[in-house]
Amino acid sequence: MVNIAVLGYGTVGSGVVEVINTNHDSINKKAGDDIKIKYVLDLRDFEGDPVQEILVHDFNIILEDKDVDIVVEVMGGVEPAYTFTKQSLLAGKSVCTSNKELVAKHGAELLAIAKKENVNFLFEASVGGGIPIIRPLNSSLTADEITEITGILNGTTNYILTEMSEKGAAFEDVLKDAQDKGYAERNPEADVEGYDACRKIAILTSLVAGSQVDYEDIHTEGITKITDVDFKYAKELNASIKLLGMSKKVDNTFYSMVAPFMIGKDHPLIGVNGVFNGIFVHGNVLDDVMFYGRGAGKLPTASAVVSDVVDAVKHKGTNIMTIWEERKTNLGLFEEFENRFFVRMKDKGLDDNQMLDIKNEFGDVLYVKASDVKEELAFITGPMNESVFAEHIANFDDVYSVIRIDF
Ligand code: HSE
Repeated sequence: MVNIAVLGYGTVGSGVVEVINTNHDSINKKAGDDIKIKYVLDLRDFEGDPVQEILVHDFNIILEDKDVDIVVEVMGGVEPAYTFTKQSLLAGKSVCTSNKELVAKHGAELLAIAKKENVNFLFEASVGGGIPIIRPLNSSLTADEITEITGILNGTTNYILTEMSEKGAAFEDVLKDAQDKGYAERNPEADVEGYDACRKIAILTSLVAGSQVDYEDIHTEGITKITDVDFKYAKELNASIKLLGMSKKVDNTFYSMVAPFMIGKDHPLIGVNGVFNGIFVHGNVLDDVMFYGRGAGKLPTASAVVSDVVDAVKHKGTNIMTIWEERKTNLGLFEEFENRFFVRMKDKGLDDNQMLDIKNEFGDVLYVKASDVKEELAFITGPMNESVFAEHIANFDDVYSVIRIDF
């Protein structure tokens, strides 16, 4: 018998209880042991829910119970999740978490403690919800030097951009609709400003690099400036606009960023729509591989958490080696990241030397027209460093939109 304690009975916590209850026979068979939920920790009471019988309000009951082997941390946020996780590991309990803030900030330290205590710190659900990506990076793609990892890592923003693309709707209208349907949070900042995707690409890049990538060091832009007019141009270009979290290795240096990109019909992530997530990985010997599925939601996320519980049971008394050292990865400067840019600006008319100015600043560009858009000029630049682009675009006023191109 393996006893587990679930910290937090919110969406994911109740999902973990549901998954273990629904699939208990097959889960126990795969784990090779009987998994029993001994405690659920939450500040609230849940009268009428069978969970009330095992509900506790004091974490110390779990910490001091020597019969609890595995702690499932699904509270979210850094504190008290960090303190509870650290104390659990130091007490010889494995921890499985879906908490990307915790993993992005303290992953390296918590992995080192788990190794020292000969237990496990597992976090499959922290990136891509139900999509297996952490375990594949750690145990399947080990023959490769990973040179690129690019993902649609946030379901909320992918839903919003997909609706804007398909319905021609404005950002604010789709966001409100997504909030009404419960897809987007009432405070959508972490999603729409790209912060959630940033933490996820920081975790993935740390694993690929084998050392710490601080999310504060990753240039991050959200989707709030994307308009329905941008999508009209995307359609003309047979492209779409997606929020990408991206890390590319060039000359042994990782260049990471989160931003909306226009991607073309041949891009591996073009078919990832709605609330789905997709993660594209390029290895130097494997070539391309794609991971696709539900990146959020109660049961998909709980499925990934419970898969970690099964792994922790299978590896009781053994630490699963995960290379993520605390020393900082030397990230390339954002200013040196090379991109192509789609630009929309006010058309100042034939009397102005605007096209000549554009040529002088950016060299030869590709002009783009969208059928019912008037009084503006839109073009795509050649590849150039972020700093060079920033310097040149600063010489223009009335710039409506800048979106990077990945096709
Ligand atoms: N808010 C996140 C998303 C939840 O929309 O993808 C999963 O981390």
